[in-house]
Amino acid sequence: MTEDEIIAKFPARLRGFDLYRKMGSPKNIVAPMVDQSELAWRMLSRNYGADLCYTPMFHAKLFANEQKYRDEHWQTNETERPVIVQFCANDPDVLLKAASMVAGQADAVDLNLGCPQHIARRGHYGSFLMDEWDLVSRLIRKLHENLEIPVTAKIRVFPEIEKTVEYAKMVEAAGAQIITVHGRLREQKGHKTGLADWAKIKAVKDAVSVPVFANGNILYQEDIQRCIDATNVEGVMSAETNLYNPALFSGKVLPTWQMAEEYLDICNEVPTNISYIRGHLFKLFRYSLPIHTDLRQKLVDVRDLDGYRQFVRDMKAQLIADAEGSDFDPEAVVVDEFGYRKYPHWICQPALRFEHDKEHSKSKRLLNEAQADVPANDTECATGNCDDADSEAKRQKTSPDSV
Ligand SMILES: Cc1cc2nc3c(=O)[nH]c(=O)nc-3n(C[C@H](O)[C@H](O)[C@H](O)COP(=O)(O)O)c2cc1C
Repeated sequence: MTEDEIIAKFPARLRGFDLYRKMGSPKNIVAPMVDQSELAWRMLSRNYGADLCYTPMFHAKLFANEQKYRDEHWQTNETERPVIVQFCANDPDVLLKAASMVAGQADAVDLNLGCPQHIARRGHYGSFLMDEWDLVSRLIRKLHENLEIPVTAKIRVFPEIEKTVEYAKMVEAAGAQIITVHGRLREQKGHKTGLADWAKIKAVKDAVSVPVFANGNILYQEDIQRCIDATNVEGVMSAETNLYNPALFSGKVLPTWQMAEEYLDICNEVPTNISYIRGHLFKLFRYSLPIHTDLRQKLVDVRDLDGYRQFVRDMKAQLIADAEGSDFDPEAVVVDEFGYRKYPHWICQPALRFEHDKEHSKSKRLLNEAQADVPANDTECATGNCDDADSEAKRQKTSPDSV
């Protein structure tokens, strides 16, 4: 179909910047995160400045064919806009079938072209489609020509800036109305995560006509404006830092227990998978659990919402006691020579990958646009908290080719 025919078919469907503006010109964006950007978490994040949230990635084939999978994974409510639903897929017809099922409840459907995990290689989706431009184009075009709502895409970058730009232009030409660029290579995962390359994001932004969201290297609220200044993008997406500090976008310096309490209050209203809750509490209390080891075991043992509430009450009592003996002043946070802020363990803060190596920290904080050639000491993957759909697939006992 020609673009004119597509416009005639969907005269009211929004394109590019009109879609962006209709969503309120979002600047602060919560990333798609398997098991972690669920409805309750999205609601908490919106209470602290998130303008737009992506759902976790859903497997298009399971979503299209299994009511049980949909019921377990897809949740939304009337407060929940704007929201973009993300799928991974390798079959255009299956993708369209899945996407059509959420069309009335989402602002757009996003195609995951970034997942770098083994499960994605075996399942033939995510970043492993970066080698199959024709298939990527057909997936996006299928939605562009047939879905009532716009299609968007989230990509990774290639080693070569020119190839990255060509790839993004192909994605745009296929019909993507917003492109999110995660400025890391497919190989940058786990221990090799390293830095995102903002220069490549800027090159994409300069080359395409649709809005671009940047993803990578956001640790503190001020990084969002730094990223916009460096790349000229419309919005900035955060994954990991949002998990450790859901108040990231607000710039507020808040105690972890407060975020945990508010999250559990939302979970009280919005039924939430217990394993998601556990994952969030482990991250929120990341720096306190090694200190209060008795509570760590409690968190491992808890199996229901009441148990988590009791756990948070116990943790809060400990943390308030710790805070009473401290002279920490949230109005006068010390910033070290590398740009890292010194927070006590009961304050929400990013999980730093570079703690072991201040030289690399320096490049991350002070020269954020630097090329990521330095492997990071990524402890996150060990706990399943990386760019990771593996844990999700294992949990669901999903066969790798079932996407
Ligand atoms: C727990 C977790 C789950 C993730 N799941 C997804 C996903 O479902 N879809 C996706 O496109 N990216 C996923 N990612 C990748 C993030 O969206 C993001 O691209 C990546 O973490 C880089 O952003 P960051 O530097 O802000 O963490 C996930 C990341 C994390 C930490």
